[in-house]
Amino acid sequence: MKVPNLGPRAVALAMVISGALAGNALALDAGDAEKGAKVFKKCQACHSVVAEDGNKIGPNLHGIVGRTAGTQEGFNYSDAMKAAGEGGTVWDEATIEKYLRDPKGFIPKNKMAFAGIKKDSDMANIIAFLKEASAK
Ligand code: HEC
Repeated sequence: MKVPNLGPRAVALAMVISGALAGNALALDAGDAEKGAKVFKKCQACHSVVAEDGNKIGPNLHGIVGRTAGTQEGFNYSDAMKAAGEGGTVWDEATIEKYLRDPKGFIPKNKMAFAGIKKDSDMANIIAFLKEASAK
């Protein structure tokens, strides 16, 4: 295959694009699950990450990373949360971050009464904690 002769401008553009993509993927520093356990205190009134605890005011979050939204057995979800799952929303780092930043903004009319997480370090740590809680 012939390698196209890219001019310096094309190379510069490619660097800008890959830089933007890398920046996007690394929006949050790697979190610390132990610190995330402290952040989880904000969630504990409504959620447990221990499977045996079952659902509380909110659905059980054991195994949440990789789960489709609105599918924890036995939990009475809002129509909005069920619709999000039916529409293909799966909880991964990106969707969890968007939801926890602004629950009502990401899924309007969902019934989680939580204002959101503002600090980037709290966000990275809670995600690290939830990932650990997801390892079955
Ligand atoms: C006041 C109670 C309350 C608090 C506090 C709360 N949640 Fe929730 N959460 C809920 C409820 C209720 C739902 C279900 C929403 C629906 O059905 O619309 C939910 C849903 C979720 C979901 C989607 C679960 C699924 O099965 O689709 C995630 C993820 C989640 N919460 C994470 C968190 C995290 C992390 C925190 C703490 C930073 C938190 N929540 C704080 C009540 C709460």
